[in-house]
Amino acid sequence: MADKRGFPHHMLKEIFEQPQGLRDTVAPRVSLEKGLVQLDDVRITVEELCSVERISIVASGTSRHAGMAGQFMIQDLANVPVEVDYASEFEYRNPLICRNELTIVITQSGETADTTAAQREAKAKGSRTIAISNVMDSTIAREADGVLYTHAGPEISIASTKAFTAQMAVLFLFAIYLGQVRGKLAKEQVQRYIRELLELPAKTETVLECASACKALADRYHQVEDFLFLGRAIHYPVAMDGALKLKEVSYVHAEGYPTGETKHGPNAMIDENLPVVIVATCDRNDAGSVLRYEKNVANIKGFKRQSARVIAIASEGDEGMRELADHTIFVPRAPELLSPILEIVPLQLFAYYMAVRKGLDVDRPRNLVKSVTLE
Ligand code: BG6
Repeated sequence: MADKRGFPHHMLKEIFEQPQGLRDTVAPRVSLEKGLVQLDDVRITVEELCSVERISIVASGTSRHAGMAGQFMIQDLANVPVEVDYASEFEYRNPLICRNELTIVITQSGETADTTAAQREAKAKGSRTIAISNVMDSTIAREADGVLYTHAGPEISIASTKAFTAQMAVLFLFAIYLGQVRGKLAKEQVQRYIRELLELPAKTETVLECASACKALADRYHQVEDFLFLGRAIHYPVAMDGALKLKEVSYVHAEGYPTGETKHGPNAMIDENLPVVIVATCDRNDAGSVLRYEKNVANIKGFKRQSARVIAIASEGDEGMRELADHTIFVPRAPELLSPILEIVPLQLFAYYMAVRKGLDVDRPRNLVKSVTLE
């Protein structure tokens, strides 16, 4: 898995390995027939999980963005309050650990110094901890009370892609499991979610067909030096990670922002010189998603009135968005809580092709390392 297998860069190979990473991460842990998620390696008793009163998710970089998506999954499916924090902040702010608090640390490498220190701080203050890691027996995995491994395979490129989507799949599995053991989810609901999870790899294969469109966008926008990435609710972490990918590999300034917040400042910057990349999908079965989508449409109309160029990530079949935005990349329809796994793929590809178009070292961007093991 560590060689490029014919791809020009590890990053592109790892983007295209995401369907397999999702299959390997999800399939061993679900039984569609029984309507059950089994997380044997979580090693925290059902009684303890039923007594959890608050969950704190702590991570760095892209892994924290996965945690931000996980917050929506766990709150919606298990009805447990979740807070998300940077590991580098958590470890130095004397965190208040509540009674019956569970701390989830997310880390591809399992060796990030900030995240290691954060987990040690949480444990020292009495919190049980679960690590989500892509590296077996890594330091953070070994020191956690419970471990949920992603099975994305070795991730070589400094910019994290397949680990990110696998992390979100594991967080979704954990949210179902927690909802299951706390009696929040009926068997039929769990079966429906498992079915959607099992369809994700094929839907991700479909999204990967947009690679040439993303390359064309990079060719068109490769001289632009600033972008604004927008998303609402669970799509905000997608916008954050799309912006981070672009910064990491192409050195272009990009900012992720909650779409609804643009009127409180960023709107002053939005004009013909600041392209807007907006996640504007819609789960028609989710009233909240439909409401947010309608707000997004209004936002885009406003950006167009300000002469901005708009790149939209939209749901397949949304012909209205094709008319409204300057460029639209479509992703297959999926439940609101799972669509981030599909939405991030075109943003990963866009960042990749921007870096290639600019002739940069895609897999080893300047000033960055794969795992910051020293603070
Ligand atoms: C950075 C990497 O150094 O560390 C990012 O460049 C990564 O891609 C971040 O998201 C956190 O790393 P890890 O291994 O703890 O997920």
